[in-house]
Amino acid sequence: MVASKPDEPDITDTVSMTDVPLIDIRNATIYRGSTRVFENLTLKIEQHEPAAILGPNGSGKTTLLKVMNRELYPMRQNNASVRILGRETWNVWDLRSHIGIVSHDLQARYRDNTSGLHVVLSGFLSSVGIHGSLAGRISAEQKSRAREIMEALGVGALMGTELRKMSTGQQRRCLLARALVHDPDTLILDEPTAGLDLAASFDYLTRIRQLSEGGKNIVLVTHLLNEIPPEIDRVILLREGKIIADGAKDAVLTEKNLRHTYGTDLRLAKIDDYYLAYPADG
Ligand SMILES: Nc1ncnc2c1ncn2[C@@H]1O[C@H](COP(=O)(O)OP(=O)(O)OP(=O)(O)O)[C@@H](O)[C@H]1O
Ligand SMILES: [Mg+2]
Repeated sequence: MVASKPDEPDITDTVSMTDVPLIDIRNATIYRGSTRVFENLTLKIEQHEPAAILGPNGSGKTTLLKVMNRELYPMRQNNASVRILGRETWNVWDLRSHIGIVSHDLQARYRDNTSGLHVVLSGFLSSVGIHGSLAGRISAEQKSRAREIMEALGVGALMGTELRKMSTGQQRRCLLARALVHDPDTLILDEPTAGLDLAASFDYLTRIRQLSEGGKNIVLVTHLLNEIPPEIDRVILLREGKIIADGAKDAVLTEKNLRHTYGTDLRLAKIDDYYLAYPADG
């Protein structure tokens, strides 16, 4: 049994969830601690609209994902609103069944001795690990679902393995399995291949593409243009909390836009349906 949910109106009672955007941010001012990251941010991403968010370190990408994931809220002010799937308030339990998240923030919060299976099972509880009384809340059905997903992601052999004994790529796959336990419609991925070698990155990206082909929407934050899969057409460029460009990949990924976003000279190539940035000469 999972813990009982706080009473909250069910969105399906009032609004058809199929008709509402995944995220609809209007005039939002968002702080991290005392840092104002966004001022009057307006951004809408539809459901089933795969999107990539790019920008320099500190430009606000992770902050934006935390807003989508209801870990951060905008300042209360007139005409500001953040609606996720049509709703301004969510409880974490309900939201996790719609949006799964993989981030290194989350990865870093796990204890080194947490087993692969416990990482995945913790997705059912929206917790970090399964400690003390939490273990009793996991049903046999949830355990078998967790095992099934781990097998599908090629980490079935790591159920009893502690995180510290796994490679970064294996840890990341366990976190992806954690995000998938509720079979969410949307996956939010914050630099999912950071720290992975080329083969592990490509393997991970292939799995993400398969999930996308299976109908899941992907919102991806990355620093590597070549990691934007062909399925993602919308690209949002952020710099210092401002949207520099937002639209179809071909229109947004230009040398001019990228130079402006990153403040450095660069060249851009398109090979098949992939982009690659490299340093400009001299
Ligand atoms: N916990 C925090 N407290 C205060 N300021 C923070 C905190 N976390 C981030 N910031 C600040 O918020 C701004 C945006 O950070 P954010 O993590 O969203 O950037 P990012 O685009 O994800 O960068 P990176 O590419 O390095 O991951 C930065 O100026 C950062 O210093
Ligand atoms: Mg970040």
